Order: sequence, then C-alpha cells, then structure tokens
Amino acid sequence: MVSERSSKEFFAVTLRVWRQAGPSASGRFVDYPATNVSPDMSFLELLDVVNDGLTVKDEEPIAFAHDCREGICGTCSCTINGKPHGPGHGIATCQLYMRSFKDGDTIIVEPFRARAFPLVKDLVTDRSAFDRIQQAGGFISVRTGAAPDANSIPVPKDDADLAMDAATCIGCGACVAACKNASAMLFVAAKVSHLGLMPQGQPERDKRVLAMVQAMDEAGFGNCTNQYECSAVCPKLITHDFIARMNRDYVKALFKAKFKPVSSASGGAG
Ligand code: SF4
Ligand code: FES
Repeated sequence: MVSERSSKEFFAVTLRVWRQAGPSASGRFVDYPATNVSPDMSFLELLDVVNDGLTVKDEEPIAFAHDCREGICGTCSCTINGKPHGPGHGIATCQLYMRSFKDGDTIIVEPFRARAFPLVKDLVTDRSAFDRIQQAGGFISVRTGAAPDANSIPVPKDDADLAMDAATCIGCGACVAACKNASAMLFVAAKVSHLGLMPQGQPERDKRVLAMVQAMDEAGFGNCTNQYECSAVCPKLITHDFIARMNRDYVKALFKAKFKPVSSASGGAG
C-alpha cells in the first residue's frame, strides 16, 4: 500500500514520442499521458509502464533500444527535450530518473537524428556504422594463447589514466546526435586514443588511425567544426581534447605514409 506521504510525490507528465513504423514510413509525434509517475522511476521504466498500457489496449508499444540499464552498453540512445540522453549530466538515458522532471511537464522524446544512423522504428536507430569503424582498426593484433603477464610491460600512470578515460566510451552515439554536423570525431578519437596511448597499441598505431578515419568518412558522418557539443552530452564525459590528439596522430600517419622510403626489396621490378 502506498503511504499518503509518498503518494503526494507522485505526479503526471505527458510523453510526446516520435512514432514511425519503419525507415520509409512517415513519422509523427504522439502524446501519451502518464499519471502516478514516481520520482524514483527511471525514464526507461516510465516507457515500460506506458508500453504496458498500450499493450493492454492492443496498441503498438513504443520501440526503444535498451540492454544493461546501468550506463554500460550504450544501447539506450534517444533524445529527450532536445538533448541526447536528456537533461542529466554524465549519464545515459537509462540513468535518468523522473525526479529530473516536474508535474505537468511535456517531455519530447525522439530518436537520434543523423544520416549515418538510419531510423529502424520509433526511437530505434541503426548504429552499425560505429561497428564498421571499430572493425576497421579498433583492435590490436596479438597471437592468441601467448598473452604476456599484464605487468611485464610498464605503462606510465598518466598514459594509463588517459587511456582509461578514452576506454570508457560506450559507443552510444550521443556525440553524433548532438553535433550539428553529425560528426563522429569524439567516438573515433576515443577509440583511436585508447589504443594509441598503450604500448600494445603502437605497432598498428598509424594504420589504425588512417583506417578508422576512412571508415568514419565512408559511413557518412560529418566533419568536426569545434562546436564541442559532443563532449557536453557524452555520458562518460569524454573530452574533446581526444579529437586534437587523434588529429595529430592522423597527420603524422598520413605524412609517414606519403613519404615512406621505398625499400630495396620492392625497388627491383622497376
Ligand atoms: S564518445 Fe561519449 S557520446 Fe560519443 S559514443 Fe562514446 S560515450 Fe557516447
Ligand atoms: S541501457 Fe545500457 S547504457 Fe543505457
């Protein structure tokens, strides 16, 4: 039974949600009133409750993506009141609680909008472009079964800390959705820097940055024009300094590739 004191804390909001049956269907906003909203509900729990109500009425539930619900997987990507992941700071949508809203609020919920993230349905977008960028170079090549002891390669503390900061990227795509150019530079910079700061990432460092930037361009993301909206909405507070770091790596790698000395072994055929 709900106590009188806590029931007074319950409130009502209207969710104004983008509904679109599929990539080529036309979309529109639809209002869903929600009552008895607890301040302690997460935003995704509210969507669950609204969907339960729609299911009971035999209506199509709102499609939204989610998995871990604890800020780890980067799946729960949507824009709330014009901001990717909503009004919080340093949190993903699944970590947003209804206490961030007031009684009577109308909350506008939309999918991430970017050419490289085509819409699948309602709030769900296809962010496999990020997978293709990762597959282009976001790894190190090692012989499996021959991993050296973790402590046998010393890593300076500052580098380890910075690499860890970059490694916290969860691939949510908020940086792209916030950028007026739909640039993926913060995501790619985080992935490139994470490995580029570690000794294990050095052998493929040049190849990696060239391949990942090329994959980013091929996926249709825009260019960075130093707006810094990306780091402002990043749930992991990844700083745009990593973009400058990646740009330096990229220019160095490009220069080395262009002026690579011709080896005697390859010079014989001419
Ligand atoms: S850099 Fe931040 S906003 Fe961009 S994908 Fe990674 S975690 Fe998400
Ligand atoms: S559901 Fe995994 S980060 Fe939100």
